[in-house]
Amino acid sequence: MTVVSAAAAPFLERRFELVPMDVGAGSGDRPYRLTGQERRDLGLWGAMTQFVGRHDEIEVLRGRLAAAGSGHGQLVGIVGEPGVGKSRLIWEFTHSSHVDGWLVLRADAVPYGKTTAYLPAIDLLKAYCGIADRDDQRAIREKVTGKLLALDPAFEFAVPAFLTLLDLPVDDPAWQALDPAGRRRRTLDALKRLLIRESQVQPLVLVFEDLHWIDGETQALLDGLVDALGSARLLLLVNYRPEYQHTWGSKTYYAQIRLEALSAESAGELLDALLGRRSGLAPLKQLLVERGNPFFLEETVRTLVETKVLVGERGRYRPTHDVQAIQIPPTVQAMLAARIDRLSPEDKRLLQVASVVGKDVPFALLQAIAELPDEALRAGSTTCRPPSSSTRPDCYPDLEYAFKHALTHEVTYGGLLQERRRELHARIVDAIETLHRDRLGEQIERLAHHAVRGELREKAVHYLRQAGLKATRAVGAPGRPGLVRAGAGRPRGAAGEPVHAGAGLRDPPRAAAGAGPAR
Ligand SMILES: Nc1ncnc2c1ncn2[C@@H]1O[C@H](COP(=O)(O)OP(=O)(O)O)[C@@H](O)[C@H]1O
Ligand SMILES: [Mg+2]
Repeated sequence: MTVVSAAAAPFLERRFELVPMDVGAGSGDRPYRLTGQERRDLGLWGAMTQFVGRHDEIEVLRGRLAAAGSGHGQLVGIVGEPGVGKSRLIWEFTHSSHVDGWLVLRADAVPYGKTTAYLPAIDLLKAYCGIADRDDQRAIREKVTGKLLALDPAFEFAVPAFLTLLDLPVDDPAWQALDPAGRRRRTLDALKRLLIRESQVQPLVLVFEDLHWIDGETQALLDGLVDALGSARLLLLVNYRPEYQHTWGSKTYYAQIRLEALSAESAGELLDALLGRRSGLAPLKQLLVERGNPFFLEETVRTLVETKVLVGERGRYRPTHDVQAIQIPPTVQAMLAARIDRLSPEDKRLLQVASVVGKDVPFALLQAIAELPDEALRAGSTTCRPPSSSTRPDCYPDLEYAFKHALTHEVTYGGLLQERRRELHARIVDAIETLHRDRLGEQIERLAHHAVRGELREKAVHYLRQAGLKATRAVGAPGRPGLVRAGAGRPRGAAGEPVHAGAGLRDPPRAAAGAGPAR
């Protein structure tokens, strides 16, 4: 059995279901049992809060879906601040009966994703072909070939491009003969045609999340798809933060949904669901109802529970203090920073170390750099033994934690001193080199990223060059080495200001940019 402590669980949830354990009265916070199912990180305490409001937005989506279904491809962009509910809206819509009969494929961009060519496109391809993380090369090859040929034998031309995308060796003279630009064209074209062709078999909803972190190649794929939407039965559903720029404004089949904070009415409903309806809660609700960012509301409630201002069970809380005395931090970032500060030194350190690894954190890597003896890791926050055979025996030792929300990750990372960050990034390079010494090729982008931020100049140059070569040779990404700019996808500090990756390497080595200009 695998157990996760109560303190760390809210920040760092595994991509698995966590079930509170009954350990008897008086034992303080309850630990969680890992039950093995993969789940998305949208919920609070492992369960999603009741969905509220957003009726108009769902109506817009429904209308656009209907248009797409009748052969007028549509693009909908959902724009909003972090935590406002972009992902949740898409989740609700794509898990509703509206999409019965539709194939839904999704791809997420991730922080630092700008630096790895085609990352979301690769996810999409894997989802389409049913490729699991643990599939070996043979299985991947069979799945890709089988899926493509079943769709349309004409898609044989796409096999080398897709296998290359998936990092498999390709023995095809015609493909080998293509120059980088030719491969890039072929890859983008193959992906686009695949999706359009599939939409002729069954209507397709394509979800691309967090475009503000998207890499240049996936952007090119998206732009290509947008131009080809015309008569496809395809709804392209994307979301992004307000800073993201695109060129779709003039398309007649494009709609933007600007997601604002919840209305006071919807926020009230959300608070009722989170807190319950005891009359003593009314002043607190009054205080919060104007602050309609749902992530803010969830995190506020969690803070109040952690600080024992609220006691009881979820949905049935009771205030212990006069709300007039409660200080509500002005932003969700400030709230998260305060919560992190209240963790025990060990839990806090673990969380900070995890944040340097990234938003998704392989357990083995965390273990290698956490400087905590196994015992402490276990006692302090996480225990990881192979899950019992009834869960997912195949996933050990690659169990992965994920920060609950990108903001949680950003704030944790932003709270670390620069020198400490640099040191941790450097240690991560060592750890990856040791852990993955047999398959370093798969880790190049990650290594380059950490070497740059760890200010390991020689290694940074080396891995950046390798990443650049890999991207250029493999799929002809022009000037898209693993890490083009030290600043790309850089996380932001608590107050929203950029967090600097450290002196010395702001200007990445020329070798890295040799393949082309940084975007
Ligand atoms: N309309 C809603 N009703 C209930 N909970 C919501 C709603 N919108 C968002 N949430 C919750 O708020 C949190 C943040 O939402 P999320 O979709 O991740 O934000 P974003 O993608 O905009 O950063 C999640 O836990 C989510 O479940
Ligand atoms: Mg989101």
